[in-house]
Amino acid sequence: MTSLNPLMTLGAQIIEAMPVEQKLSREERKQLAIQLLSEVGLPELSRQLTRFPFELSGGQQQRAMIAMSLAMADRVAVMCNGDLLEQGTAQAILNDPQHDYTRTLTTAHRRRLSGGRQKYNVEGLPLPAVSLAGVSVDYGNGRHRKRVLHDIDLQVPAGSTLGIAGESGSGKSTLAKAIMGLITPSTGSIEVCRIDPANPPAREEFARTCQYIFQDTAGSLNPRHNILQALLEAVQIHQRGTLALISDLPSYCADLLNDVGLNKEILQRYPHQLSGGQRQRVVIARALALAPKVLVCDEPVSALDATVRNQILDLIMDIKRRRNLTLIFIGHDLAVMEDLADRLVVMQHGRIVEQGDAHALFSAPRSAYTRELLKASHLSRNQTQFTHTPASGMKTAPGYLMGV
Ligand SMILES: Nc1ncnc2c1ncn2[C@@H]1O[C@H](COP(=O)(O)OP(=O)(O)OP(=O)(O)O)[C@@H](O)[C@H]1O
Ligand SMILES: [Mg+2]
Repeated sequence: MTSLNPLMTLGAQIIEAMPVEQKLSREERKQLAIQLLSEVGLPELSRQLTRFPFELSGGQQQRAMIAMSLAMADRVAVMCNGDLLEQGTAQAILNDPQHDYTRTLTTAHRRRLSGGRQKYNVEGLPLPAVSLAGVSVDYGNGRHRKRVLHDIDLQVPAGSTLGIAGESGSGKSTLAKAIMGLITPSTGSIEVCRIDPANPPAREEFARTCQYIFQDTAGSLNPRHNILQALLEAVQIHQRGTLALISDLPSYCADLLNDVGLNKEILQRYPHQLSGGQRQRVVIARALALAPKVLVCDEPVSALDATVRNQILDLIMDIKRRRNLTLIFIGHDLAVMEDLADRLVVMQHGRIVEQGDAHALFSAPRSAYTRELLKASHLSRNQTQFTHTPASGMKTAPGYLMGV
């Protein structure tokens, strides 16, 4: 997300990336941009080159970046703690890794989460912590107004985990933003622990009730605040609400970091001085500083590598159990959902196509779309064979892309 220029339209950015020596007219460049967007699976955007990055979903932004680089790795180099462990053709590395570390990387996505899921008890149904009735959301104004969420009805029982799955652009993040009060719905009503999230006077109270972990780790922290400042801001909101007396604030913040597996040494660092996985842990620590009852996670691991991804998922589930949180977990990987969700909602084109008990839904999906999603996630789980063979004996030969 941070790779796109927020002030330039999609079309202008793709055209800017075209080599100048390619002597193309303005119209030819535009046609090429349209073709590239279709190639990365965004044909609908090819008619909308004037859109800005914030008007795209997370997956659409990623595809737009791919349209700019259109690559696939031929050779792979594996790094660990600053050392180059091994390198070779992508096929050799994936099918016959020499290092143990590489083996954990190539198999990590097949590992199940530890601990399994804690089945939430349906008997004696707890009150819903989150409920939505007839919620619709529109983006844009006038002629450009477009409905992206249609008539959503949803209830999340307190203490349970709701998984929200669906293809890129189906409206998952929009739904999360509406629950967080960051977007006002055009119709319908939302309640989170009896609070209306869009009601400004209740904002601080809402922050203590419900926290959001974004898809974009870099964009969720203020780049001018160090980690101590980022945590302190949250701790102070917590203090004001609960009148908690915390005498030693820095050591309180160090404990928060400890809770998410980070060392207090990073308190003085700025977000850009952390890795993506460390940043996501800081964001989780900051959310926990407010002791919320509800946690909304929007693809919290999509930007992380497979090993760190599993660690962060384990961490979120561990915290959920320890604090008895109500969790809303958005993702496109149904295999992950199977591990952690009690109930599941499947979205397509801004509508809920199916919802119900996660286990029942996995064993007998009713809609054809859910079956498609399941098939796709099982395919990606088993897909480690790499068949593309570049010419051998070359080290980053011209025309090849080196993946690190
Ligand atoms: N600010 C905006 N203005 C106009 N359109 C928007 C805006 N934000 C999102 N959209 C559009 O709304 C639709 C839903 O976007 P949303 O971000 O909710 O999708 P998503 O399900 O989270 O997808 P992903 O898995 O790619 O993150 C997409 O078609 C997107 O292009
Ligand atoms: Mg999204």
